Amino acid sequence: MMTTPILEVSGLAVRYGKIEALHKASIKVGAGQIVSVIGPNGAGKSTLLNAIMGALPVTGHASGRIAYLGDDVGAMPIERRVARGMCLVPEKRELFASMTVEDNLVLGAYRRKRAGERNFLDQLDHVFELFPRLKERRAQAAGTLSGGERQMLAVGRALMGKPDLLMLDEPSLGLAPLIVKEIFHIISALRQTGVATLLIEQNARAALQISDYGYVLETGDLALEGPATELAQNPRVIETYLGLVKKPV
Ligand SMILES: Nc1ncnc2c1ncn2[C@@H]1O[C@H](COP(=O)(O)OP(=O)(O)OP(=O)(O)O)[C@@H](O)[C@H]1O
Ligand SMILES: [Mg+2]
Repeated sequence: MMTTPILEVSGLAVRYGKIEALHKASIKVGAGQIVSVIGPNGAGKSTLLNAIMGALPVTGHASGRIAYLGDDVGAMPIERRVARGMCLVPEKRELFASMTVEDNLVLGAYRRKRAGERNFLDQLDHVFELFPRLKERRAQAAGTLSGGERQMLAVGRALMGKPDLLMLDEPSLGLAPLIVKEIFHIISALRQTGVATLLIEQNARAALQISDYGYVLETGDLALEGPATELAQNPRVIETYLGLVKKPV
């Protein structure tokens, strides 16, 4: 039996002026699933996420259908999508550098506070549990965190809003393999709390390892899709995205 997917995007096209950066993309994220979209630089990955969130720049124009829990949210402003439980951690993490780790996290719950939720900080302990490093550094200015810690803070801040659909734009960007492992472990642990995740990645190996389903995006087109374990064995994916470790010359 199929339940309503949390996200169902059909025929989504995005153009910036005359250039179409995304051609009729259709993707689906089931309840509690981790779904990844992999692809090279410039393929349109961020464009896809920003369009789903309603966060395209003014020059960007999207057409197609974006259904969130069965409702078409394509015309909704970003705030209403957030209020419904959609959350995007953008490529530029947009932390408040001079503020402490804890204050950045509290800001992540701002919308809930404004909406009158009395227990708007109820996720703080959970976030500190997931990211003990953030707890240790709660009084440190965000701008002085390492790249990996900053990434953790960006994800932690998103979780403070208690999203149902978390969209992450390249969480592994610029991070060392051990930190990537740690962050992906946490993303996969989030599944147990019922959060669905749409993950955009260039690190295909790490992404497919924790995903239920995957898509390959190439110059604006979804070139391949399938269950993550199958995609990871697809010869084309192996050759182009997983590859063999290059030996030094
Ligand atoms: N605001 C914009 N105006 C014009 N063109 C844009 C704009 N944003 C993105 N593009 C173009 O759209 C295409 C897709 O860009 P996008 O940022 O979605 O790629 P990406 O897959 O996220 O790449 P990366 O892995 O480098 O982040 C690129 O050719 C890019 O130059
Ligand atoms: Mg991008």
